[in-house]
Amino acid sequence: MLFVGDNGAGKTNLLESLHLATQGFSPRTRHDQQLVAFGTEGGAVELTVRDGEFVRRPRVVIPARDAKRATLDGVALPSAESLRRSFTTLVFTPDRLAVVKGGPAARRAYLDRVVSRLFPARSQLAQEYGAALAQRNAALRRVQLGLSSRDAIEPWSEQVVTLGAALVEARREAVAALVDPFSDNTGALGLGEGTLVYEGEALTSGDLAAKLESDIARGITTLGPHLHDLAIADGARALRPFGSQGEQRLAVLALLLAEIALLPSSPLLLLDDVLSELDSRRRRVLAERVSTIEQTVITATHRSALPVEPAHVVEVTHGQAR
Ligand SMILES: Nc1ncnc2c1ncn2[C@@H]1O[C@H](COP(=O)(O)OP(=O)(O)O)[C@@H](O)[C@H]1O
Ligand SMILES: [Mg+2]
Repeated sequence: MLFVGDNGAGKTNLLESLHLATQGFSPRTRHDQQLVAFGTEGGAVELTVRDGEFVRRPRVVIPARDAKRATLDGVALPSAESLRRSFTTLVFTPDRLAVVKGGPAARRAYLDRVVSRLFPARSQLAQEYGAALAQRNAALRRVQLGLSSRDAIEPWSEQVVTLGAALVEARREAVAALVDPFSDNTGALGLGEGTLVYEGEALTSGDLAAKLESDIARGITTLGPHLHDLAIADGARALRPFGSQGEQRLAVLALLLAEIALLPSSPLLLLDDVLSELDSRRRRVLAERVSTIEQTVITATHRSALPVEPAHVVEVTHGQAR
């Protein structure tokens, strides 16, 4: 499906509302009140989702000056984000270039999202590890200030090691699964030989114990998956420092398509402003690959930017969709 319209017409808004209604949050901002139309008090998005013969109705409400709430088929959910258990939506926006050109934190966050989509049973790992790490860091600082004994750190170190090892394993498995489809897609998209390497060692209690004194002195845990990275390269050329903007964009798209190849069922794919900066050959390859995915929404300022015939065209003008 193509959303076509001038700059500022509301294409990204419409795409964002699809993400909000299927995932429970905006891909663009954490400030939900920004999603409410200026001059109105609160807002809501409701979708009718057909999956074979099943029809599902997710609805997200953002009340005036209150936290958002969601229902699915009229039943209240514990959080809007729990819609993710029922729907998988993958999105490309120009912000996602941070996965390739941003700092390691952006890649860790990306990898942890992949882990939670590929291995739903392990979707809480990154959060649990983060919580244990925060507790250990707090314990380190209390010892540093002479407020408690070294014994108080030990239980948190154990948690950090157990959860950290499980997180590293999950991330490595995700990377191992992505490697082949990623290089297949980089090849097709004319980006050469895409490679992915997880950078970081599994955490052991011995390693952590060896760092205890310096960790206390610094008041932070200086070892573990919260410091790891994912190397994204074209052969020997790392794309973060050496890729062009267009190549970085292709790498993010190749990651997205690689993940889709691994998902058990076809997700909703949202591609915002993806066609700009790509030459016509790469645009065609991308459009052809994407057209095999059951449900894709792509935005463009001109109909002609998309080199294949879309099943549906939605014209967006001044916040109206037709
Ligand atoms: N909460 C809001 N209420 C009303 N308009 C908004 C709100 N947030 C952004 N806008 C405006 O919506 C317009 C359309 O934005 P957008 O969907 O990004 O356009 P585009 O079609 O270029 O993707 C922009 O001019 C933006 O300023
Ligand atoms: Mg836009």
